[in-house]
Amino acid sequence: MSTHEISVTINGKSRTDTVEARMLLVHYIREVRGLTGTHVGCDTSNCGACTVHFDGRAAKSCTILAVQADGHEVTTIEGLAPDPDHFHPVQEGFRQCHGLQCGFCTSGMIMASAGILADDPDPSREKIRLELEGNLCRCTGYQKIVDSVRWAAEHPEGVEA
Ligand code: FES
Ligand code: FES
Repeated sequence: MSTHEISVTINGKSRTDTVEARMLLVHYIREVRGLTGTHVGCDTSNCGACTVHFDGRAAKSCTILAVQADGHEVTTIEGLAPDPDHFHPVQEGFRQCHGLQCGFCTSGMIMASAGILADDPDPSREKIRLELEGNLCRCTGYQKIVDSVRWAAEHPEGVEA
């Protein structure tokens, strides 16, 4: 089994670890770094539960090998809020608009949604639906998720946690 040393900046902190060449980034995040807010729903790039930010852009972490993250920056749901006293506006939007039920898809939905707003701070409901089509939710019917993202677009300053 071949192993490699990687250095990854996760949630603003530089981490160096030795990983197997075949390890997926999502498994590195969860099992090596212990950041279990990033979920695995399928392992085959279909569900979006594993979405993180990779060098500032939303990406499914089951589609990336851990070794490919060497020298790159990863943000997970644990690192999205700007500080301990404030949620990211998308997190607050999901809270205000009841954008979740079981919560399994939620961290991926929030990371993907934050990526949408980073590119377009005022997306239409139609655009939000289109951009989130790679993130599956078995519970909500998506209406409340779209409401949550629109709430965030309308409250870019967020509110105190
Ligand atoms: S676990 Fe990555 S897309 Fe489903
Ligand atoms: S809230 Fe249950 S899968 Fe989305």
